[in-house]
Amino acid sequence: MLGEVRLPTLGVNIDHIATIRQARRTVEPDPVAAAVLAELGGADGITVHLREDRRHIQQRDVQLLRQTVRTHLNLEMAATDEMVAIALDIKPDYVTLVPEKREEVTTEGGLDIVGQLERMNEVVDKLQSADIPVSLFIDADRAQIEASVKTKAQFIELHTGRYAEAHNEANRQQELTVLSQGAEQAIASGLRVNAGHGLTYWNVYAVACISGMEELNIGHTIVSRAALVGLERAVREMKQAIRGEL
Ligand code: PXP
Repeated sequence: MLGEVRLPTLGVNIDHIATIRQARRTVEPDPVAAAVLAELGGADGITVHLREDRRHIQQRDVQLLRQTVRTHLNLEMAATDEMVAIALDIKPDYVTLVPEKREEVTTEGGLDIVGQLERMNEVVDKLQSADIPVSLFIDADRAQIEASVKTKAQFIELHTGRYAEAHNEANRQQELTVLSQGAEQAIASGLRVNAGHGLTYWNVYAVACISGMEELNIGHTIVSRAALVGLERAVREMKQAIRGEL
């Protein structure tokens, strides 16, 4: 008998709801309301990135979301002392550590765990000792996965940006193979595997089919569609896309 295929869950990243609010430094739209609608649409988790420059999500948002999110809250953050203190205070359901540069439009590339193993060990240990599981956002690179295992983080999130930006089918297949092999290596080493960045309604299904993939964190494409059709429907349609039904 064929085993049941388990498709990954969907973490909806609502940063760009806050981007619209911050464009006018006003109070609408509220990410707290967006999280409710995303959950009504079938989101399995809510993801927010509290950046050092606070360009979209604010500390107030994370504090309120901690109280209102009914699924789980994934806090993306840089591995700085300021952010670790905030995470220890708010206690999200898990933290995803990401690299952060002030001048970037969005996260570019994965974390260099190999090059800062000592710091990563320290941050992962602080968070996981407080019962906050940690996920490391990395490229599907053999050495980075091996270093991630050493940190004892429970999860990695594979950076799907290069796959999303592939300019032809051969390149897309090549990047998909890199992601599948990365997931296989990580799972064999005891890590749990999520993925995200640049995923869309059109490219998500192949990543959803990677064996052992647990959660996909998706933001920009959902908020873009939500501007036209509403957030609840946009999330429902992304769940369909993950199942290959769109
Ligand atoms: N995962 C991580 C670690 C990210 O930094 C981002 C962007 O904030 C995402 C997923 C979502 O990417 P996108 O908005 O392109 O779906």
